[in-house]
Amino acid sequence: MREVQLLILGAGWTSTFLIPLLVSRKISFAATTTTGHNVAGHETLSFRFDPTASDQSAFSTLLNARNVLITFPLKGAGQSKLLVDSYNQYHPKLRHKAHFIQLGSTGIFQIPEQSLWVTRNSAYSKTNDRAIAEDELRSLGGCVLNLAGLWGGERKPEKWVSRVAKTKEDVKNKTSLHMVHGMDVARGVIAVSEAWGRDEEGCKGERWMLTDGFVYDWWALFAGWASVEKAAETDKVTKSEGENTGGIDVVPSEQSQWVYELLQEHNVKALPRSYEALGRCYDSQDFWQRFEITPLKARI
Ligand SMILES: NC(=O)c1ccc[n+]([C@@H]2O[C@H](COP(=O)([O-])OP(=O)(O)OC[C@H]3O[C@@H](n4cnc5c(N)ncnc54)[C@H](OP(=O)(O)O)[C@@H]3O)[C@@H](O)[C@H]2O)c1
Ligand SMILES: *[C@@H]1O[C@H](CO)[C@@H](O)[C@H](O)[C@H]1NC(C)=O
Repeated sequence: MREVQLLILGAGWTSTFLIPLLVSRKISFAATTTTGHNVAGHETLSFRFDPTASDQSAFSTLLNARNVLITFPLKGAGQSKLLVDSYNQYHPKLRHKAHFIQLGSTGIFQIPEQSLWVTRNSAYSKTNDRAIAEDELRSLGGCVLNLAGLWGGERKPEKWVSRVAKTKEDVKNKTSLHMVHGMDVARGVIAVSEAWGRDEEGCKGERWMLTDGFVYDWWALFAGWASVEKAAETDKVTKSEGENTGGIDVVPSEQSQWVYELLQEHNVKALPRSYEALGRCYDSQDFWQRFEITPLKARI
């Protein structure tokens, strides 16, 4: 059976960046979706992991791989072990045991009493379903990448304004935001899988946090998007509309007007607010340092 460098279990949004990059770098890969539809112009195998099924023979249809990327959430105890065991059971002839990489979210670090600066070594919710499954995967030698908010392509953060902040109170409560672009997730996944081929240290059993290195202040974003928000709201922003800051007499968005009222009310002299005022700041520099790349698409 053919062996690929990377098997993507769940070629969703992230793979619209990852697959073209793998093609461009001539890295062998295969990918699955639940329905077997094309992604980024490439065929995918139809595969759905059902953790409740007693028959896991669907794993026999998957290719041998050096690295297996799991993009969909595994939850609670048992699922990670079942997935790893089933893959290994149906791929016994691999020269090296496959490396498992799971995409997770930085959401597990949002706990009461969290410190101001949060790193991959900070406390996280041990009772979070995804964290439980991630820890199980790590105990089996897997590597977890906890991603900040994803953006890129159709995911345009300036479109989210009216959804995340409907009232002045919503705006008032908004503090920090952390993001990472799909392209940088793709570059990160490839960097981890390549590093792992040379040396398992830093990969096996680890948890990493990925952000683009910015701590965004939602107030600064609302203010900065004062003129794009209305056009973006419709969700059908054409390129020229989305970039349009040039209406001659445009009314600033409600959200940005509220921001300037709040600055006055809270005696904030300028934007962005201080890290202390934001109160939750992610530091993911060690990821980029360890894997010797830097973000390509920083600053939303
Ligand atoms: N949205 C954010 O801001 C954010 C932030 C941090 C982390 N994350 C996490 O990052 C990861 C990747 O996100 P994404 O947007 O690329 O995900 P996505 O677009 O939802 O892709 C998930 C893929 O997994 C497949 N899949 C779902 N359930 C499956 C199952 N039981 N067995 C096999 N395949 C299954 C889906 O198949 P189909 O294509 O057939 O549906 C799809 O291809 C997710 O874990 C997400 O929670 C998201
Ligand atoms: C804003 O935060 C306060 C204090 O944490 C909370 O009581 C209130 O419900 C929040 N309001 C909204 C609209 O989220």
